[in-house]
Amino acid sequence: MSSEIVQQMRALIDQIEYHRKRYYLMDDPEISDFEYDQLEKQLQQLEQKHPEQVQPDSPSFRVGSGIAENHPTVAHAQPMLSLENAYSLAEAQHFLKKAEEAVGFPLAYCVELKIDGLSLSVVYEYGVMVRAVTRGDGQVGEEVTRNAKTIRDLPLKVADWSAIPHMEVRGEVYFDRQTFLKINQQRLELGLPEFANPRNSASGSMRLLDSAEVAKRGLRMFVYQVIGPAVGSDSHYANLQALKQLGFPINPHTQLLEPGQDLEPLLNQWETFRHQLDYETDGAVIKVDALAYHAEIGWTSKFPKWAIAFKFPAEQATTQILNISIQVGRTGVLTPVAEFESVQLAGTTVSRATLHNFEEIQKKDIRIGDWVFVEKGGEIIPKVIKVLTQKRSGAEQPFEIPKTCPRCGSAVEREEGLVAIRCVNLACPAQVERKIRHFASRNAMDIQGLGQEWVQQMVSKGLVRDVASLYQLNKDQLWQLDRVGERWIANLLGEIEKSKQQPFARVLFGVGIPMIGEKVADQLVEVFGSYDRLCQATVAEVAAIHGLGEKVAESLVHHLAMPETKALFEALRTAGLQLEAEQREPVSAEDLPLTGKTIVITGTLSQWSRTDAAKLLKSLGANVTDSVSKNTHILLAGEKAGSKLAKAQSLGIEIVGEDWLALWQNRKNP
Ligand code: IVH
Repeated sequence: MSSEIVQQMRALIDQIEYHRKRYYLMDDPEISDFEYDQLEKQLQQLEQKHPEQVQPDSPSFRVGSGIAENHPTVAHAQPMLSLENAYSLAEAQHFLKKAEEAVGFPLAYCVELKIDGLSLSVVYEYGVMVRAVTRGDGQVGEEVTRNAKTIRDLPLKVADWSAIPHMEVRGEVYFDRQTFLKINQQRLELGLPEFANPRNSASGSMRLLDSAEVAKRGLRMFVYQVIGPAVGSDSHYANLQALKQLGFPINPHTQLLEPGQDLEPLLNQWETFRHQLDYETDGAVIKVDALAYHAEIGWTSKFPKWAIAFKFPAEQATTQILNISIQVGRTGVLTPVAEFESVQLAGTTVSRATLHNFEEIQKKDIRIGDWVFVEKGGEIIPKVIKVLTQKRSGAEQPFEIPKTCPRCGSAVEREEGLVAIRCVNLACPAQVERKIRHFASRNAMDIQGLGQEWVQQMVSKGLVRDVASLYQLNKDQLWQLDRVGERWIANLLGEIEKSKQQPFARVLFGVGIPMIGEKVADQLVEVFGSYDRLCQATVAEVAAIHGLGEKVAESLVHHLAMPETKALFEALRTAGLQLEAEQREPVSAEDLPLTGKTIVITGTLSQWSRTDAAKLLKSLGANVTDSVSKNTHILLAGEKAGSKLAKAQSLGIEIVGEDWLALWQNRKNP
């Protein structure tokens, strides 16, 4: 009986899968949408009756399968790197030249459209989709498997997986233009803020907790990479074609550029052609096609040097300035913002642009009422390029530099040698709000639930005056806020309590000393170990740390010496925050990234001696052995790998190349 049910289910799954491919991947459906829905319904009914028999690759998962409590974080097997940008043909050609100089002869390139969405890694085991993880910070992302299963372009099961029992594909998740517009329309109707662009909407949707809601939105995906030598060819382009055969969505416009072939015509053609596509693209990605040369050409800590993103030139529009408003930042700097009649720019609606500083307004002579050119370039933030003075009517109002802070009315001052104008009142509510939001932000203390609306209220009601006072908040005080409930209060107090355990580097970043970003804070903690020792550091000592320099050092030492900063840190100490690095020495073996992995090296490595490769892997915690067995986790295969490779393949062991080693090397010495 049960096997009969399974057979019925499998038959339906196969039919649905066949028609899904025809519809989504081949654009050539054989049956109507209605008939397709009927097949899905039949399967769902069968599954409701026999829930214990639901198949792991059932297309029913595409409509969502429940609500996640949160998205756990997962480390990527290989970091998900970003791409360096080229903003002109000359820059792109320079990249080709560098790559060819590295290998010594002309190369073929795979040229792909750069899809404007969010990147996703999807792992298949024995053909079945088992895990999907967002890029996150490149090392660690959020696990969003249920949501990924709703992406109809992606196979839930790869039929022909025997040669590739473990595979990871990466690609870009996006919305087509129509869906994006529809989602925004619905949000407007519900009184929710619109998404600024398809990318934000895709990333917001992918991270929703309710996968049924994600399914309704209709995310799409193009796969642009397969990790490891899984599909067997040395050509990236050929691998993409192989992935297509396996049922993955590959962008149909991908092209192979032969050695010596001119890049310019293709880029020119795409620049206009892309507007006809029903999804947004922001450039072209040019990749050295032969995987064998990737290791030779190498990586930086952030980017591969064998690929580059050519950004399509900015798009411009004309519009009229309605007002110039002023934002007060975390450090009191006043930033003028142009508010204009909204315009469509590169497919998104924009109505504001930062003017950076007051000098810029004077230099460009921007007046309220002026017609201006606005441009959206490689970055998402639009810019005011110039004033169309010929369109002036005489009614335009010159902008006056404020003499007082628009938020608290205190005096403002211009720092010597700097263009910035600053509100000098450290208790300015705008500054306090921004400081608190920065402190609570995800990469700092990660106090969730402390949105703008609440922070504003807390500051205006005098419940908090600096970041340390967050730790004195109690229930009664929080009840004074509008629209709060028991659960929100309990949750927030819990989050605040939990944040006391955050490592010192986050505290140091979170207090927001000018020029002390996340990475700098990490470096400082690594070198000095504690707040007390940091206070004794001299400008020269700090400046000597790799990559920091004088300015950062001066800012740090100057701010740490200020009585306000000292008082703040003492208050944080009293509240129980970590002002010392965790004792990391000696590192326990369990903490290393390859602990527990047994790795075998075979074949000839071009950039490494075997001994060095083994040394590196051991330093990462791996157990490096000589012979392949079922206890082997990873085979590192170089050129001319022979019987060990065959054996590893037959055992379904993960096989990686030299580029994998280079990634670890980069990770150790960025
Ligand atoms: S390749 C190590 N190919 O652009 C190389 N990326 O700005 C990994 N993207 O993080 C990226 N389309 O999210 C590649 N055809 C394409 C792409 C693409 C869009 C995104 C991707 C990446 C970002 C870098």
